[in-house]
Amino acid sequence: MFKSTLSRLAFLMLYALYFPTWAQAQDLNFNKGWRFYNAKAEGAEKPDFDDSQWRALDLPHDWAIEGPFDVKYNARSGGLPFHGTGWYRKTFKVPASATGQKVRIEFEGAMYNAHVWVNGQFVGNRPFGYIGFEYDITDKLHFDGTDNVVAVRLTPEDLSSRWYPGAGLYRSVWLKIDAPIHVAHWGTNVTTPTVSDAKAVVQVETTVQNSSSQSAEVVVRQAFFSPSNEPVGEVEESLTLPAGTSAVSGLYANIQKPLRWDLETPSLYKAVTTILKDGKEIDRYETRFGIRTIRYTTEGFYLNDRLVRFNGVCLHHDNGALGAAVYRRADERKLQIMKDMGVNAIRTSHNPPSRELLELCDEMGLMVLDEAFDVWKIPKVPNGYNLFFEEWAERDLKDMIRRDRNHPSIVMWSIGNEILEQADKKNGWKKAQMLNEYVKQMDLTRPSSAGFNNYPGPFDFNMAQQVDIAGMNYKPSKYSEEIENYPGLPIYGSETSSVTSSRGVYHLPIEKYKTHESKQVTSYDIIGPPWAYPPDIEFHFQELNPKVMGEFVWTGFDYLGEPTPYGGKDNSTNGYWNADWPARSSYFGAVDLCGFPKDRFYLYQSQWTTKPMIHLLPHWNWKGMEGKNIPVYCYTNCDEAELFLNGKSLGRKVKGKDLTEILIDFSRYEPKTFQSKYRLSWDVPYQPGTLKVVGYKAGKVALEQTMVTAGKPAKISLSVDRPEIDADGRDLAYVTIRIEDKDGNLCPEADNLVDFDLQGAGELVAVDNGNAATVESFQASYRKAFSGQCLAILRASEHSGQMTLKATSKKLKGAEIVIQTK
Ligand code: GAL
Repeated sequence: MFKSTLSRLAFLMLYALYFPTWAQAQDLNFNKGWRFYNAKAEGAEKPDFDDSQWRALDLPHDWAIEGPFDVKYNARSGGLPFHGTGWYRKTFKVPASATGQKVRIEFEGAMYNAHVWVNGQFVGNRPFGYIGFEYDITDKLHFDGTDNVVAVRLTPEDLSSRWYPGAGLYRSVWLKIDAPIHVAHWGTNVTTPTVSDAKAVVQVETTVQNSSSQSAEVVVRQAFFSPSNEPVGEVEESLTLPAGTSAVSGLYANIQKPLRWDLETPSLYKAVTTILKDGKEIDRYETRFGIRTIRYTTEGFYLNDRLVRFNGVCLHHDNGALGAAVYRRADERKLQIMKDMGVNAIRTSHNPPSRELLELCDEMGLMVLDEAFDVWKIPKVPNGYNLFFEEWAERDLKDMIRRDRNHPSIVMWSIGNEILEQADKKNGWKKAQMLNEYVKQMDLTRPSSAGFNNYPGPFDFNMAQQVDIAGMNYKPSKYSEEIENYPGLPIYGSETSSVTSSRGVYHLPIEKYKTHESKQVTSYDIIGPPWAYPPDIEFHFQELNPKVMGEFVWTGFDYLGEPTPYGGKDNSTNGYWNADWPARSSYFGAVDLCGFPKDRFYLYQSQWTTKPMIHLLPHWNWKGMEGKNIPVYCYTNCDEAELFLNGKSLGRKVKGKDLTEILIDFSRYEPKTFQSKYRLSWDVPYQPGTLKVVGYKAGKVALEQTMVTAGKPAKISLSVDRPEIDADGRDLAYVTIRIEDKDGNLCPEADNLVDFDLQGAGELVAVDNGNAATVESFQASYRKAFSGQCLAILRASEHSGQMTLKATSKKLKGAEIVIQTK
């Protein structure tokens, strides 16, 4: 490539100028080239241990999602093998450039109870699976070009989680090489003490670590960049660092005419911190941040001085058939589907989420309630975090805040969900006070909170008063009482509704049953456990109590585990939930495990969005029901809707005036029916054909939706979420498979088995159909349709090209689809 040594030298000098060695040496992604073994392994921490027979894989990895489902595991946590021992080993050489530098290894999350060794020497243990951690491993490494071995042992326990936690090194791992003087782990804290349209004052506190044996004088420089990457300010100061200590630099800068981080305009700035010694740059650290104000009062929650209500959802961290292993695209798609529903806020129930999820919320304009714990000292399941609470809670909670504090999306910290200490009249509040104190030591810019389900207990016992904003789980009818009795304590619905349903499944006549022999739940959106109630009830009480800051629905997406109303008794039952096997994942989602909207998605959309939408349920295939009444519901944000059956009008209904009676039955609420103004309905004597609904806004036709009685399944149709994806080895294409009749109508009850064949630059990583009660593997090349649909998830390889997915099924016309990878 180079004609002469001279030109080679010139190239290298130029290269060094543009890419100084620190840039190459920092943060090496360490996800590739691991060996994995899923059992106890004597001596596996030793460097000369023979792991050549272990499975070779790349991270992030969740061993439990590979299954198989088995009734010997707990359906409550997904019916999957998430407990036991898992070992990961990686053999590597340290780059020559690392000599004289500090080397740290960072795990963004390890599920769970990680023990880590480097070259046979123990470096540390971190029990909590949801928090990241790092170790300085410099003095354990060989820098002479010989092999190093890092070994990680994970020992997740049975009965350690109320849902599916995943298992393994399920988030990214990094090898970080820095000068001995460098910005500490999660070492910057960017705040915006004053913000106006004219200017924002930005403060950056930077913890600088001097791990060398000499004291040093350094300069800390902060340079700020606008959302379009223009330089918008620079400040610096000198710092004295005695040997082996750290010190904090605090610098302020003014940013003129700041662009706000807001829901519609999530503008993101960047602070680039450089450490200079003797005029030479020795470290560089980038922090993304946003400029926005938040304020809470008993009147509501204000973002940039605008009252906003939380149209929120609770989300667990798994991504259905992909398990807990982090895929940025899976989270992005999940959040996009939630935004389409009208969601503006996410509660990370009930633990710290992945870095990727928070980055995406920053970028997509979603507010986040970042939650630390589901349990303190009193267990909900015998082997849960309760075992580690005393020793680790302070560290884990503070680390969550240290890790996450620069995300503008985060508007509240939660110290816990439905903590059983709520019932401890005498001492429960003391723990809340202690945890709240930890929050305040770390961050004074955001309110603290917790989700309380025992109203009025924790309010009467002074526990709720320990946080800034009290979350109420499942007590909408008590909002007004709380506001009257505790006038100084702002509230919101931290967990609401918990109604259950199976996508596309309808049971007639409408009944408020507890469970159904099919192990599915009707999608008329009325069935739930005793504490649950239809979304309509929450809408109603939120409207009656405008001071309540909004709600977080349980849940946005279905998740693995907790198959309520099947299998188990209630939420504090220990033990196994296998009575209704194979029911093994949740029915709570407004969206199923595949990401396909259920009817409830549209009920929320009708309440939370303004762009005209209309949605009809059930489907229109009721062979054998001719002449019998079918309740037809319409969820819309239009003013009026008119229904037509085979061209004949069945009447026009007015939203807000024409009510639908729904059955309810939840604890601490008397009436057994509710006249809902949130649903329009007609009783329609069944006749096959075309059911059409027309929505009107201000008297004019806004839009319409048509449903046709489908004929026999005849063909497969395929569609993909994006026709072109990145050839980076992690990007995903989601292919939706529909079973259609010859005219292209969805066959709403089809359950045909579909076979897949993928050729080209990628891999079929998972299949699913959203059925919560099946033990078909997620990792197969076939899947039955459920309510007419299933899903194939394809992962790009690292070579650009194209992937062709072929789908075939006996008696059906097959289909294929091509996805480009670049
Ligand atoms: C709540 C709990 C959630 C989930 C939900 C199901 O009580 O906080 O984690 O179990 O019930 O309705």
